Amino acid sequence: MSSSGGGDTTGGAEGATGGAALAAILRGLHEEVRRQFPARERDITGERRVYLNNAGGTLVAERSARAMEEAALRANAQDGAVSSGERGTAEIHVRARRGAAAFLNAPSPEEISFHLSTSHALFNLSFAFRDLLARGDNLIVTQLDHAANVTPWESLWGEDRGLEVRECRVRRDGTLDLDHLAALLDRRTRLVAVTCASNGLGTVVPVEEVVRIARRHGEPEPPAGTGRSLPGRGPSGRGRPARGRAGAGWRGALVVVDAVHHACHGPLDVRAMGCDFLAFSGYKLFGPMVGVLWGRKRWLDALRPYRVQANENRTPVKYEQGTPNHAVLAGLSAAFDYLEALGGRVEAAAADRPELQATAARLAGIYPDRDRRRIKWAMSAVRDFEQTLSKALLLGFAALARRGVHLHGIADEARAAERDPTFLFEVRGRTQMEIKRRLWEEGRIEVPDGNYYSLAVYRHLRSRRTVRASFAHYDGLDTARHFLDTLDRIAVG
Ligand SMILES: Cc1ncc(COP(=O)(O)O)c(C=O)c1O
Repeated sequence: MSSSGGGDTTGGAEGATGGAALAAILRGLHEEVRRQFPARERDITGERRVYLNNAGGTLVAERSARAMEEAALRANAQDGAVSSGERGTAEIHVRARRGAAAFLNAPSPEEISFHLSTSHALFNLSFAFRDLLARGDNLIVTQLDHAANVTPWESLWGEDRGLEVRECRVRRDGTLDLDHLAALLDRRTRLVAVTCASNGLGTVVPVEEVVRIARRHGEPEPPAGTGRSLPGRGPSGRGRPARGRAGAGWRGALVVVDAVHHACHGPLDVRAMGCDFLAFSGYKLFGPMVGVLWGRKRWLDALRPYRVQANENRTPVKYEQGTPNHAVLAGLSAAFDYLEALGGRVEAAAADRPELQATAARLAGIYPDRDRRRIKWAMSAVRDFEQTLSKALLLGFAALARRGVHLHGIADEARAAERDPTFLFEVRGRTQMEIKRRLWEEGRIEVPDGNYYSLAVYRHLRSRRTVRASFAHYDGLDTARHFLDTLDRIAVG
């Protein structure tokens, strides 16, 4: 990949692609891309706006919204294998799991489960470990994470089970302190919960590096006998796990990745990352509100999630409570379809560029599966294009420093590859609400307020003045320029 920083670590194992060339291809497709997002220019009231809260939720691709409408109108409530309506409804689930697996380069769609949200997915996951924990175990969370990947571990493993929760620090430049992580980790560390990128500061975490540290004491294997029901404990699927196994532990620490923020900014590849679980949300990936959880099959099989008794006791459905929302799953598949179609356009354009021939041959070799390959093309182009945006914005923020605008996190334009285009800043003498209001009044720019549930922001920065502006691949240098010019006016005025 063109990026040498954090972006690489989640990008897959295929090596370098042509960064500038891919960014140029995406730029060339921009009008087409923007047409897919009708809410980009006008909000729900018909008002013109510039939407810069993509970290709070991306815009929904038109085809995703249409697919939701179609499924809401026509899908059955229950899936099945006989009538065409039942089969069509079942197919919605199959497609969504397949699409998510291709998006993540996961070994199997059977490792994908759907939840109300990522927060819900991570609470479910955290709870599912309850048989396997023992006093003296510890786990590590990070200051860079969203609360969704901290609270489930702190409350279920920490408060309820009395395990020690250790917190990995963030360095002054907004990067995760990996030396501190290594120092915190010992033989009783069972799990590291880490974000792929901060939704507060935009920093991308080198997840492969985190996994390498987490594995210092071994590759975690589920303790023997887990996941099996005790014979004679009622109908199949009702059995409880064998006693005496609790606390058997495992060697090395598991790694749970929150990819919610990064999912729309660059390729994700669970095999390349080497993590054990990963979650992301559809509404931060041009689709609907839904949490997607991937996990290694042997661990998913071994764990015991909350499960309604009659529900099948098998991975992945044992992780899903209640009747799935078919419309939402259809919308999620259509969001993947949008990215695959975009990847197809990028791949076709790449065929005309000599500098991308080697990349094309390499990707074709690594990803014989067309859907996965197209996702890879799309997300690589998105990442490389967004880096050009980040560079322009970082230069702009540097110029605004003398006007009292202070950017938190990575600010050096040469390090654009280590961040997503999410910018946390403050303006001397102005409150968060003042900045938010004036961005809206003077530039029709929409940014959020609050703490974004980002630990870095609400627990550690403790500044009430920070404002977040976050961009996506449908934004361009025109958007960046408009934002910087408006901020310039606000800072002086
Ligand atoms: C980085 C990150 N993780 C997790 C979440 C929680 O996602 P959900 O709303 O699907 O629970 C968010 C939402 O803001 C997020 O930005």
